[in-house]
Amino acid sequence: MISIICGTNRGQSVSKKIALYYQNLLKEAGANSYVLDLKELPEDFMNVALYDNAGKSEAFNTLKKKLNESHKMVFIVPEYNGSFPGVLKTFIDALDYPQSLKNKKCALLSLSSGSQGGALALSHLTDILHYCGMNVLAQKPKLAKIEANFKEGQFTNELYVTLLKEQIEAFLPF
Ligand SMILES: Cc1cc2nc3c(=O)[nH]c(=O)nc-3n(C[C@H](O)[C@H](O)[C@H](O)COP(=O)(O)O)c2cc1C
Repeated sequence: MISIICGTNRGQSVSKKIALYYQNLLKEAGANSYVLDLKELPEDFMNVALYDNAGKSEAFNTLKKKLNESHKMVFIVPEYNGSFPGVLKTFIDALDYPQSLKNKKCALLSLSSGSQGGALALSHLTDILHYCGMNVLAQKPKLAKIEANFKEGQFTNELYVTLLKEQIEAFLPF
């Protein structure tokens, strides 16, 4: 089972819509997946699931258990202030180090309103995931100007669909 992690907890996020789109592409390619939206994190997650409180939040433990059982992950990452969202780093900090991520495989995809497409965000995240022992797929699509290229749950830019399909083709046997 592939975990698709929606890398923000913002309500109505474009990332969540792209996560659902990606899930559909995986399904068409014959792969089972589920979406872990960081919006599902307990509201008081920072106070109840980290450091001395590790393991104490039932709600977080449930999310973590499912992730721990999964050996492949896809991170859908919006660009926030020239990097990836802080909540995604906090989420990673709350996982079990190193076993939640070590020796597992992931694919990264980023999106942004601006013209960089989240390139720096994926660079930063790649460094961290490598530190945690994850194998990161080399193909990392960066979807710039997302509002102009993704409308009502569909891509209006065929190149972006091609990039996602190529990524999936490389990720499934990875
Ligand atoms: C807190 C915050 C910071 C953002 N910073 C940037 C940025 O640095 N560069 C950029 O192009 N877009 C930035 N954006 C816009 C997001 O990249 C854009 O809305 C993204 O494609 C989709 O994010 P979403 O999943 O939260 O909807 C920012 C948005 C938010 C909420």
